Amino acid sequence: MKLAEIYRHLRPDILQIEKEIELQVQAEHPQLREASTHILKAGGKRIRPIFVLLSAQYGDYDLNEIKKVAVPLELIHMASLVHDDVIDNADLRRGKKTIKSKWDNRVAMYTGDYIFAKATEIATKSKYPQVHSILAKAMQEMCIGEIEQIQDQYQLDQHVKQYLRRIRRKTALLISVSCELGALVSGTSAKTQHALKMYGYYVGMAFQITDDILDFVGSERELGKPAGSDLAQGNVTYPAIYAMSKDREFYQKMQEFAAEPSRYPLQVDDAIQSIKNSGAVEASKDLANKYVNKANKMLYSIEEKEPAASLEKIAQYIGNRKY
Ligand code: IPE
Ligand code: IPE
Ligand code: MG
Ligand code: MG
Ligand code: MG
Repeated sequence: MKLAEIYRHLRPDILQIEKEIELQVQAEHPQLREASTHILKAGGKRIRPIFVLLSAQYGDYDLNEIKKVAVPLELIHMASLVHDDVIDNADLRRGKKTIKSKWDNRVAMYTGDYIFAKATEIATKSKYPQVHSILAKAMQEMCIGEIEQIQDQYQLDQHVKQYLRRIRRKTALLISVSCELGALVSGTSAKTQHALKMYGYYVGMAFQITDDILDFVGSERELGKPAGSDLAQGNVTYPAIYAMSKDREFYQKMQEFAAEPSRYPLQVDDAIQSIKNSGAVEASKDLANKYVNKANKMLYSIEEKEPAASLEKIAQYIGNRKY
């Protein structure tokens, strides 16, 4: 099932959130405005606002209150992408030139900062004081996750746990917070909030694992961002960890590469082939699906049935997504 079909009933609300984001990135400064609008208009799945809306359906659904967290969440995500493309030296995002490539790294730094600041400003409008600390904490964790990734670069012998800890911070927590805040601002019980927070965490883990699979099996055209670049940059993700544990020759080649990447740059096509041959893609999908199942289990503990069905479908979509 396509993502758009799963949340069709929320389409008008997503459009309102979209309008609000557009309004919010109308910066006074022309360059900040142009760059922010550029990344916004390039597209994106808006999956974090969708999680907020679906989670809010468990309580008293009030779009006005929901907006005050859904808009900041998408903005925080967008800002992190702008910075991520600097760190990952990426030229394509959402099928368009990245800000760092269309302008430069300095513009990308300040555009990201500007979008982050906008997010915190909008969040102050929420009547729930916990929103601020929850969002601030998630932003801090994302920074830790991204910096851990830099420290872990070219470390071939890292434990799967190290990888999982990193992706929990850089990706899963923001998705978890999206579900938690949707539940919070619609006044659900503490038990439901906790269940949705855990649901979001498990789905978020599956989301990044699939992103890491797609880096090996997807194409730039499908993804709208560069493919095959994680390993070439020394970012060791689950498919690579798995393949190295199964294929000794591949591991040795990787060791040569990791010792002196400038002298022995990665032969990306060969590496992708080794990864595919090792069964790493299937193993990674299995891992993602384990998280999808854990996510859906959390939903069963909540009584309301209707929204749970959409969240269950989204979790399934995430385990099988192609972009
Ligand atoms: C990309 O996120 C970065 C990750 C956390 C994997 P998305 O896949 O949600 O990106 P957009 O918003 O749809 O472009
Ligand atoms: C997720 O990691 C980035 C953030 C959480 C900011 P990636 O670096 O894999 O994201 P993509 O693949 O560039 O979207
Ligand atoms: Mg990155
Ligand atoms: Mg990246
Ligand atoms: Mg990626």
